[in-house]
Amino acid sequence: MQTEVHTNTTTNTDTFPIKGTDYLEFYVGNAKQAAIYYQATFGFKWTAYRGPETGHKETVSYVLEQGKVRFVLTSALHPEHEVARHVAEHGDGVRVLALWVDDARKSFESAVERGAKPALEPHSLSDKDGAVRMSAIHTYGETIHMLVERTDYKGVFLPGYEPRNNDFPIQPVGLKYVDHCVGNVDLGDMNRWVKFYQDVLGFKLLITFDDKDIATEYTALMSKVVSNGNGYIKFPINEPAKGLKKSQIEEYLDFYRGAGVQHIALATDDILFTVDTLRNHGVDFLYVPDNYYEDVLERVGTIDEDIEDLKRLNILVDRDDDGYLLQIFTKPVQDRPTVFYEIIQRKGAKSFGKGNFKALFEAIEREQEVRGTL
Ligand code: FE2
Repeated sequence: MQTEVHTNTTTNTDTFPIKGTDYLEFYVGNAKQAAIYYQATFGFKWTAYRGPETGHKETVSYVLEQGKVRFVLTSALHPEHEVARHVAEHGDGVRVLALWVDDARKSFESAVERGAKPALEPHSLSDKDGAVRMSAIHTYGETIHMLVERTDYKGVFLPGYEPRNNDFPIQPVGLKYVDHCVGNVDLGDMNRWVKFYQDVLGFKLLITFDDKDIATEYTALMSKVVSNGNGYIKFPINEPAKGLKKSQIEEYLDFYRGAGVQHIALATDDILFTVDTLRNHGVDFLYVPDNYYEDVLERVGTIDEDIEDLKRLNILVDRDDDGYLLQIFTKPVQDRPTVFYEIIQRKGAKSFGKGNFKALFEAIEREQEVRGTL
């Protein structure tokens, strides 16, 4: 058995309606400096802030936006704070995958009734701009899903945050929305978390990749992709598989000290512009050797882009029954080899670039080798 595409698992009623990704919150060691990184490299705009200056004494949070992508970078001001403990244990990483829902109480209650572990009871936050209702449930590792209900809230982000900007000269790179967020879980846990998304959040199983699909000479992993009713939310879940050497998933789990978000795929309508600009801004990408481009057109057929441009920028391409996609992966964006980004442009394709897995994992192995963790 290799890849399986599941088509008959959709239920007609979406038992857990989600309108989209609301935000991703990272717990980091130095939010002030991380905010500058995302402005200078990815071209995010700083839009909101919460901290001592706004009456919040425990943590500082910077809100950054581009297209529909919204990141929150949070650091602790005291070593005893939970955010400081999280950073000490995991390094900089994703704590919150926030989902935009119609009813934060109902969604929370139905999830908990079906087995979700509560992280935050439903409550309302309000300020002069209105109210937002929020609740949260746990998912893999220490990651949580915040459920955010925004009825007529007119403020910049959430109650307690104030609008902010600066004169930093940003150049947006054309990021539109979060395409998918990938989680790495421990060996043997993938099916448990797939079942969690199916049973608790009413997601459907989209695709299964086994260790024959995702293996190089040395290392292997398995992956299943779950998606919500309207398809806006896609969560691939990876677990390591047995190989001759240490899988990249094991390396992640070692350094992150457990399960967590591995990569965030950000969508663009013009990947040539996006990657060219990111490279000019100093973003490091995984390197795939030139021979990848020798037979790529035989594999994927005719594409709109000039193959020389793809080669120059080291962008990968893959095709499925619905069209093709272009993608590239950054190196980890913090000191530990944990979280990284994918930039993706979909031209019809609904899949995840299976044809690139081998080239990609060999690229990661070369990085592991340099780190001494293969
Ligand atoms: Fe991906």
